[in-house]
Amino acid sequence: MTARISGIDHSAKSTHAESEERIIIRGGKALNGTVRVAGAKNSALKMMAAALLAEDVSIIRNVPDLTDVHMMASVIRHLGAKVTITRNEVIIDARHLTDFEAPYELVSQFRASFVVLGPLLARCKQAKVSLPGGCAIGERRIDLHERGLKQLGAEVGIDHGYVHATAEKLIGTRIYLDRPSNGATENIMLAATLAEGQTIIENAAQDPEIVNLADFVNSLGGQVSGAGTYQIVINGVNQKDLHGGFIDTIPDRLEAGTFMLAALGTGGDLTIEGVNPDHLTAVMSKMAEMGADISVPAPDTLRVRALTQVRATDITTVPYPGFPTDLQAPIMSVLAAADGTSIVTETIYENRFMQVAELRRMGAEIALTGNSAAVVKGVPKLMGAEVKSSDLRAAAALVIAGLTADGVTEVTGLSHLDRGYDRLEEKLQAVGADIYRR
Ligand code: EPU
Repeated sequence: MTARISGIDHSAKSTHAESEERIIIRGGKALNGTVRVAGAKNSALKMMAAALLAEDVSIIRNVPDLTDVHMMASVIRHLGAKVTITRNEVIIDARHLTDFEAPYELVSQFRASFVVLGPLLARCKQAKVSLPGGCAIGERRIDLHERGLKQLGAEVGIDHGYVHATAEKLIGTRIYLDRPSNGATENIMLAATLAEGQTIIENAAQDPEIVNLADFVNSLGGQVSGAGTYQIVINGVNQKDLHGGFIDTIPDRLEAGTFMLAALGTGGDLTIEGVNPDHLTAVMSKMAEMGADISVPAPDTLRVRALTQVRATDITTVPYPGFPTDLQAPIMSVLAAADGTSIVTETIYENRFMQVAELRRMGAEIALTGNSAAVVKGVPKLMGAEVKSSDLRAAAALVIAGLTADGVTEVTGLSHLDRGYDRLEEKLQAVGADIYRR
């Protein structure tokens, strides 16, 4: 149908604009009530890949309903395993694998799939996994994965955009990571599970998702200890020692942090259930400096109350247990309307300030100093605007900004949001937000 207003043909333009799904937020409503977080995306995806290690059936519970989870299921099915997903449970039957290649069409869509490299190499003695490539937030190299697997005795080459690793036998060794990369820690831990002898990963990532993964590997019959510290010890086992595993995915600390920040930014009083407060120490500490009143009414519950005007504070992202890079954009949305000036320093990624230009469209006063620091001068109030997200956490940041702003905000680029947040609008509506998707 042709849209014609005042004799002008608007069809081409409006068809394009209207075809893109958007979240519409009428800002200024305080979030009040109770919300429950889902299982952690960054844990569930890795455990799905780890299930490939055992020639058996594994069950992973409390899995969030996200596009990334369905894409990981596609990768695993492509390799020949069977995957059944019910609402929050994933059953993986990896008794028979038929392929050791994860193709570009699948891997290029989400980087987490690169973690099939370690289990495939260990189980099939070879793996061919597409290089995931960079993304909006940075180069995202894989040199530490490559070096670690080589140290375990694999031959690893890069050919026509694929990482090809082969090893008749992996042999345990001591591996020092130049930086505590999550992905490298995971790939090495999973490959080393079926290596001969002991592997020690020094300067390992210490994130809770690594601990969850190690617990899952141990439920398969693996022998991993020290996860959650800088040194992880993996005693290799034989293929026949592994069997089906069972695990509950830990709560998503990044979803929890997103709700906590939305509560503070909107002047709300929000109870967040199903969390592990120990995973959010850095976030709680920074939010307390910003004026949030945070309590722990039950071991798996946090309450965030905004009792005063939000105050500025400085943030530096660092590996866990430091302040997470994945909450850098969301916290910036709140600092943008804080009393005073904050300096936000990003040390994990080279290019993770994509939200800044969009926040400026909403009236934020943010100056970038190179790619690593942003000076955020708080304004009294953000103003609603049309904004576009460039990555998952930038999308969350724009939703938070919209919830706190005066007037209407329309957020596009929702494919990013759906990769990491399970029913976000529904949950926000239930605690008083005026938000819907069109
Ligand atoms: N790096 C290297 N070489 C490597 C590996 C990493 O230089 O071999 C660099 C990366 O380029 C990056 C930094 O080290 O600058 C951190 O990378 P890491 O390997 O720790 O990240 P990842 O495993 O690719 C996971 C999460 C990210 C999260 C980071 C950091 C998943 C699926 N992704 O990525 O989550 O930001 O750890 O905590 O677990 C998100 O959820 O929005 C997200 C991007």
